[in-house]
Amino acid sequence: ERASASQVIVAKAHLADGIEEIIVHSPVIAEAAQAGQFVRVLPWEDGELIPLTLADWDTEKGTICLVIQGVGTSSIEMNQMNVGDSFAGIAGPLGRPSEINAYDPATETVVFTAGGLGLPPVYPIAREHLRRGNHVTLIAGFRSASLLFWTGEDERMAGLQREFPDTLEVVYATNDGTFGVEGFVTTPLETMLEAARAGTGRRIAEVVTIGPPLMMRAVADLAKKYDVHTVASLNSIMVDATGMCGACMVPVTIEGKTVRKHACIDGPEIDAHIIDWDKFLPRFGQFRKQEQASRARHGL
Ligand code: FES
Repeated sequence: ERASASQVIVAKAHLADGIEEIIVHSPVIAEAAQAGQFVRVLPWEDGELIPLTLADWDTEKGTICLVIQGVGTSSIEMNQMNVGDSFAGIAGPLGRPSEINAYDPATETVVFTAGGLGLPPVYPIAREHLRRGNHVTLIAGFRSASLLFWTGEDERMAGLQREFPDTLEVVYATNDGTFGVEGFVTTPLETMLEAARAGTGRRIAEVVTIGPPLMMRAVADLAKKYDVHTVASLNSIMVDATGMCGACMVPVTIEGKTVRKHACIDGPEIDAHIIDWDKFLPRFGQFRKQEQASRARHGL
């Protein structure tokens, strides 16, 4: 864990209703960042600690990219900060980097399912798979077309498609059918799993899911039916990312025993098929307010 001395906001872009992209000068973190990691931001002195996934970074410019949805008080205030303002502190990169296995790009694919603001955390992980030569299918789900971002001609998704024209396939799904496939991320995922089983589509080497807990469970359950290894990235349940608040505790079953993992220490990626979702999901009733605030910060 390193702390960066410099954390000035150098650019800011409005992505969608309540969602801002903030580029921060943070060369030490940019240099050390690996796909799947996050940072812990102290926006101002005496503020609360806010974990945010590294959505992107630029080692040449020494910057990191954070995407914030303003719903809780802190995130709303953070989104009102302007270019030239500084955060009081940023610690990171934190969390275990994503595990990137090598697969045959001719016959296999790694499927990502990103729900809402799951897209920013998915982006660097998908890019790392592509850089290492894997084929990637990225299913990005939004509630409605009005919430879409990063999809314009000169934006990140198009840039990634230009860089990897042969190995990246992007599928959009909206709940109301206003953009892409109508339905949830599980709709195109099921079609792909069926095609893979029938031998008419690529073999799905693994599924990575990032989004609201209910969506991740639905993805995990579906992929399990087809025996496909699934990883859930639990950014959305972290509250302070210190290992102390307990909000991110996940019950998992290992060799028949239930143990607890902390998403902010042991994760954020956890094998979705060892998570005890029945025990895990109801807990969100208890932590609802905290969890909603955190989820809002991650935009999930
Ligand atoms: Fe608080 Fe992990 S987020 S202990």
